[in-house]
Amino acid sequence: MTYLKQLIGGLSLAAVMTLPLAASAQAPEAPKDPVLAYRSAVMKGLGDNVAAMGAILQKRVPYDQNIALHLEGISLGAKAALKGFETKMVGGTAKEEIWTNWKDFSERLTALSTTADALAKKAKAGPVDPKEVMGALTCKSCHDTYRTK
Ligand code: HEC
Repeated sequence: MTYLKQLIGGLSLAAVMTLPLAASAQAPEAPKDPVLAYRSAVMKGLGDNVAAMGAILQKRVPYDQNIALHLEGISLGAKAALKGFETKMVGGTAKEEIWTNWKDFSERLTALSTTADALAKKAKAGPVDPKEVMGALTCKSCHDTYRTK
């Protein structure tokens, strides 16, 4: 009983003592500014849809027609990304040029949305060429231009 009390007391003391340490150890992972967190989440969503689609196109999973769902997800994600960048907030891996070249930057996201939507319609109608799908997604050229790494 006493031993148990000591153990619990010891544990909770240990827990209290390590709280500030744990918090500072996690500092690099701490929640970002909400604006940065939002656009990071939206972009990750685009990445997840591309990864899921890749698994289908490489025939590692059987869901052929569902490529259209991921293309629709990318189309919507690109629209959300556009919203996410409307607030000028340099940070994350976003370059300042996004807002000085806003017309070019926003047109790229609108074009991605339109292209993904058109491909989704095509994928619903029948099989699509994986190279055509992946080649039409203009992720890299924008990252090369507007990301710091
Ligand atoms: C118009 C430009 C543009 C296009 C098009 C674009 N991105 Fe991005 N992406 C960015 C920018 C800018 C960032 C950095 C955002 C930040 O750090 O705040 C980014 C970040 C990312 C990240 C990192 C998110 C994180 O915080 O870990 C992923 C993943 C990503 N994009 C995936 C994609 C995919 C997949 C596509 C294509 C389907 C795509 N992006 C299309 C501009 C673009």
